[in-house]
Amino acid sequence: MKYYIETFGCQMNVHDSEKISGIMKSGGHTSASAPAEADILIFNTCCIREKAEQKFFSRLGRLKSLKKRNPGLKIVVAGCIAQQEKGAVFQRAPYVDYVVGPQNIHVIKELDGIGPHYTACEDNPLIADTEYQTDRADSVKAWVTIMYGCDNYCSYCVVPYTRGREISRPAVKILEEVERLAQDGVKEITFLGQNVNSYMSDINFPALLKKANEIDGIRRIRFVTSHPKDLSNELIRAISNLDKVCEHIHLPLQSGSSRVLRLMNRKYTYDDYLKKIKLLRSALPDIAITTDIIAGFPGETGEDHAATLRAIEEIGFDGMFAFKYSPRPETAASRLEGHLDEEVQSERLYEIIDIQNLITDTKNRRLKGSSQEILVEAVIEGREGPILHGRTRTNKIVVCHQPADTDRLIPPGDIVDITVTKTARHSLAGIVRQ
Ligand code: SAH
Ligand code: SF4
Ligand code: F3S
Repeated sequence: MKYYIETFGCQMNVHDSEKISGIMKSGGHTSASAPAEADILIFNTCCIREKAEQKFFSRLGRLKSLKKRNPGLKIVVAGCIAQQEKGAVFQRAPYVDYVVGPQNIHVIKELDGIGPHYTACEDNPLIADTEYQTDRADSVKAWVTIMYGCDNYCSYCVVPYTRGREISRPAVKILEEVERLAQDGVKEITFLGQNVNSYMSDINFPALLKKANEIDGIRRIRFVTSHPKDLSNELIRAISNLDKVCEHIHLPLQSGSSRVLRLMNRKYTYDDYLKKIKLLRSALPDIAITTDIIAGFPGETGEDHAATLRAIEEIGFDGMFAFKYSPRPETAASRLEGHLDEEVQSERLYEIIDIQNLITDTKNRRLKGSSQEILVEAVIEGREGPILHGRTRTNKIVVCHQPADTDRLIPPGDIVDITVTKTARHSLAGIVRQ
């Protein structure tokens, strides 16, 4: 049978879709190039904010007509909406056949013939010991799961409900996977988890980084996401001492007001956060720091919001994802007093984005003329020769040309030095140094 996967949401889902594809292939299925050609349509969904949920249901509504044309078509809802809504998905969309939570993707290859309306949303205590066949989309960079779930219960967040309890994969399994990836020619790995800093099997996260750093063939190591409360001095030392670990950290601040941080159950104050930033920058002066901010949390006052704006200026992030607070089912914050009007939230969000845009522009402009190391991720033939797409160690996107007088073809996977010739908000342009 032919399957087609549509993915919504974060890196976890992007990587889970690679696992789902691997599972389907191991079950003898093949991938379809478009939804209309599929016998099984799999949606890997996200419900982190209400908008993400709406986006999925409107897409689902648009694709339901495919079932009229092909009555044998099976529709699977997987991912976080599946876990959150379980059987309620069938009430909202009776034409859906199967609902499969993130801990149960292994059942997906065997669903045909079961049903109608089958749900697989049980806790799976074996998940950390399960080895998934993974059908990776990229041959230069690879995601590697190091832990599942989350135990932090930030008051606004659905993830602990959709992804279950935090559990770490055994280090030997992770390192074996990285070895295999290196043998397949992968150059960059990104360790994945909701809070990688709290990784703990027989070794902790800095020790895992150290072991991965020793694997031949791997040139770069990244990780997402870090929780500020668990960013230890040992981890900062590891980032600064291990040559393959890149100088970038995504460290969600969420708010610059310690009062709001407490309401969010983040377990750090703004001062704690700032201290960690200072430690990071004193160990690694050029480290890029990116963050997430939530605008208009329940009860957020004008003064709290002003504290967030001040924090953004004081820290000077390299990049940011900012969102309006969105109430989510089951979460503690949805029951708080003082939910703000959408208008106030929007106003605050735009103030946050405007300040950050200025900072990003200034920071990027300073890179003009600098030398950067790029891992080439793709080479696209342009009118004036090949165009290389890659990223700096600090995770900035770069598009660059080779000098006109060179014949050497640089393939994806190579690491080259470039000079930055132009800068924009979301990317840099450059030329390869001879
Ligand atoms: N585990 C990661 C990612 C969580 S989701 C972490 O802790 O950073 C990514 C981001 O979405 C969060 O950092 C937060 O800024 C945002 N987010 C989560 N729930 C939200 C909600 N209910 N409303 C608005 N933004 C939310
Ligand atoms: Fe959500 Fe907080 Fe866990 Fe991140 S650390 S996934 S924001 S509960
Ligand atoms: Fe990711 Fe969305 Fe789930 S952000 S963990 S896919 S709710």
